[in-house]
Amino acid sequence: MFKEKFKDGIISAKQFTREDISYILKKGKEMIKNTNSNLLRGKILATLFFEPSTRTRLSFESAMYRLGGSVIGFQSGDVSSIKKGESIADTIRTVENYCDCIVMRHPLEGSAKLAANFAKIPIINAGSGSGEHPTQGLLDLLTISEECGTLDGLNIGIMGDLKYGRTVHSLSILLSNYEVNLYFISPPELSMRNRYKEFLINEREAKFKEITQYRKILDVLDVLYITRIQKERFVDQEEYERVKGIYVFNKDDLKETKSTFKLMHPLPRITEISPDVDDSEKAIYFRQTNYGLQLRKALLAELLKD
Ligand code: NCD
Repeated sequence: MFKEKFKDGIISAKQFTREDISYILKKGKEMIKNTNSNLLRGKILATLFFEPSTRTRLSFESAMYRLGGSVIGFQSGDVSSIKKGESIADTIRTVENYCDCIVMRHPLEGSAKLAANFAKIPIINAGSGSGEHPTQGLLDLLTISEECGTLDGLNIGIMGDLKYGRTVHSLSILLSNYEVNLYFISPPELSMRNRYKEFLINEREAKFKEITQYRKILDVLDVLYITRIQKERFVDQEEYERVKGIYVFNKDDLKETKSTFKLMHPLPRITEISPDVDDSEKAIYFRQTNYGLQLRKALLAELLKD
């Protein structure tokens, strides 16, 4: 059923119902124990990355190898024929002959949808400009579910660049399937875009508050998800300079939090979390990267198994 529903791929967090999320998180949890297998032997994944990546590309590639499959691809648009002027559509219609599934990251917001329109095999959106990054959102939910023991009844702060950060868009949409109180924390110029807020209100009746300071609510939060200010998306670099160091979560902040509090970050972290926080049991951002591997193994297995 999952395979049939997602046969065109994973383009947006909006595709996922609560049942779909429960299903894939259950499969992700099973993968934590299942370290290697031959489930995808003979299958080929293509990773087409037109923007920098460490975790997303390497975890997809590792996931494929750990399931017995193989990987082809490129890590930069500079080495593909896009550099010569080829369109995404033509690239996709070529690469799909060489593989069973395509994972793509591209600076254009509608890129994953565009690719899916031309492909006969599943496309996985690994980041479409400042739009969405649905598999990051799913791995964030697996992390919260495993580390907090639930997804319902939590107070979750999402802080940083909510305008350009694609991970927070997908995360908020996925979380709106649950009974959570969301706090969107950002400077006014980097607040969550209206189109996402309207979706959360009109389609999901989600509960969220928008604030600019995090210290006032630290004692109520179960999870704080911090993101990087997305330097590369700013049209005006002076505006970036004005907001770049706006939040720096430090060791003193930890003292204000509940004993069960969890601090998350999709990474890369620049200056928004001080390194002296890293040793705390509450800082789970490096564990989050392992949940990413497990979740991506589960997704590939569900989409590609016979
Ligand atoms: C994020 C991305 O690429 O959107 N990284 C990731 O996939 N873990 C976050 C970011 O770049 O800030």
